[in-house]
Amino acid sequence: MKIEQIAILDCGGQYTKVIDRKVREMAVKTEIFSIKVTTDKLKEFQAIILSGGPSSVWHEDALKYNSEIFELGIPILGICYGMQLINKHFGGEVRPGLTTEYGETTILTEPHCPLFSGLDVNQIVLMSHGDSITKLAPGFQVAARSENVYAAIYHPQRKIYGVQFHPEVDLTLQGKQIMENFLFKICGLTGNYILEDRIQTAIAKIREQVGNNKILVLVSGGVDSAVSAALLVKALPPENIYAIHIDHGLMRKDESDLVCENLREMGLQNLIRANAATVFFDEIIEVNGTKIGPLTQTIDPEKKRSLIGETFIKVIRQTASGLNLDFDQTFWAQGTLRPDLIESGNPDVSSHAHKIKTHHNDVDIVRRAREKGLVIETNWDWHKDEVRQVARSLGIHESIAGRQPFPGPGLAIRLICNDGRDQIAPAQHQKLKVVLKELPGDCEAQVVPLKSVGVQGDCRSYRYLAVAYQKALDFNWDEVYQIGKEVPNRVDFINRVAYILNESQPQGELQTYPMYINRENVALLQEIDHLVVSKLNIPPVSQVFAVLLPLGVTKKYSVAIRSFVTNDFMTGRPAFLGRDLPKELMAELVAEITRIFPEIEFVMYDVTSKPPATVEWQ
Ligand code: XMP
Repeated sequence: MKIEQIAILDCGGQYTKVIDRKVREMAVKTEIFSIKVTTDKLKEFQAIILSGGPSSVWHEDALKYNSEIFELGIPILGICYGMQLINKHFGGEVRPGLTTEYGETTILTEPHCPLFSGLDVNQIVLMSHGDSITKLAPGFQVAARSENVYAAIYHPQRKIYGVQFHPEVDLTLQGKQIMENFLFKICGLTGNYILEDRIQTAIAKIREQVGNNKILVLVSGGVDSAVSAALLVKALPPENIYAIHIDHGLMRKDESDLVCENLREMGLQNLIRANAATVFFDEIIEVNGTKIGPLTQTIDPEKKRSLIGETFIKVIRQTASGLNLDFDQTFWAQGTLRPDLIESGNPDVSSHAHKIKTHHNDVDIVRRAREKGLVIETNWDWHKDEVRQVARSLGIHESIAGRQPFPGPGLAIRLICNDGRDQIAPAQHQKLKVVLKELPGDCEAQVVPLKSVGVQGDCRSYRYLAVAYQKALDFNWDEVYQIGKEVPNRVDFINRVAYILNESQPQGELQTYPMYINRENVALLQEIDHLVVSKLNIPPVSQVFAVLLPLGVTKKYSVAIRSFVTNDFMTGRPAFLGRDLPKELMAELVAEITRIFPEIEFVMYDVTSKPPATVEWQ
């Protein structure tokens, strides 16, 4: 049977990988190419999707494209920039500034257009454009309008369609059906790219690449590396696979035991658990001529990360040489997912995405090994949801298959280290007071000299925390959430807000204390985190954990609960208390934390979305 596949031509849009994921969820294979792709590469494809992009088609620096793509005779769907490119190419006009639309917009669709067949006439869609069509290209018809612009166009005979909005994102409520209409009704595809076949393809590819050689696989405990290991077990003789689990002493409670137990059950014979907490805590490492470490004296999040990253490499090398394997000459498998490769601008996947961050699975050392053909990316064909499905179909235990994401540096980035020297200026306290007065409700807040990481625009921020309070668990969620949104928007030295759940007011000014990572505070955080996760890990929560803060009035520690709802972790919001998470459940948890851990003064809830705050505090 011929595999159906469509080509996504990347015009530089931030949602290209979301288009990729959505189409693959519908069991249709995709490949991403540059918009300049030559048509000989597209012979095996049944349709094309042109992505969105940040440029303007009318601009002299507009992306160069290969006009022959429009003469292939296969259906085309242009999204946002893609639609404007279609209109301009066929002789229409696109202009800037006439009307700009950002956000959810209502459109009126033309029910005879096959793209909207069977759907509601009025649709809520996500628009994000500055340019719009001012003259329709000859031969094209209008398929939908918003109040201001042509929201969709089509050429029925040529089967070329364009939408100004983004059908690939969840904010376009019937976006999935629109994409299905394109793939199944217009292109006539059936969705035959079945996961089971893809698993077999992955296994065959591993056999072909590795042959009779030995291979290392690093297993963190997450689903991605577990799937890598399980695929190796299916593909290769077990004696050739060496699985290494590094316990850096910053894992969650009992996590390393659970991971190793599961790996053994999977059939891994050579499983090495490196108990390396001492190295990770005490090592001093030189990075580009500068000494960093030890971890037990490090505050800066980026330094914590690079220290832990470098120590990982060191421990892997040592462990490999203990097995008589030369790390620089041995095959190793890693669980890099398709979106990670897209994000890193790996030329095999996408040509425009290099503007976005480099992923940790794609740093220099990995790229060098990849050039030598030594890195086996067993999960290259899957997005996160798919990898969880693969895990289940390979029989991996649900405690791993459904496991929440956990950062490589582990609990190190959930202990907010501090030297206690930072001070908030009186003018800064005053600024927060003024902003609070402008907001509805009676919440009060104090800004405290503890910084955490955030993301605003495309930039990283490292700013102070505001601690809000009013009525403990008797709060009005809308007011509290509003503070979480507006305070970072309006106060330029704050990027995160946490609300106190166990008291209506601190009895004095909040103090911060010096805190560095040590075995005792890691152990304390492990216990609290375990309790938090055991209570709150329920739908729709995507990730939940505890953060330890050196903050209080009469005691030296407080804890913040981060409970986050998201589809893709690029953006998201706190779980709404009283809606997503019952208040009674939270009340029980708060009571338990304060009862079991007398050293904790405040139990707080992080009420900040991403942006402006990231999921992790760091
Ligand atoms: P942020 O904090 O960037 O996190 O909003 C988004 C998601 O990524 C996870 N995360 C990591 N995962 N290595 C990982 O494998 C890391 O270094 C890392 N840092 C953050 C985070 O837990 C969240 O799910």
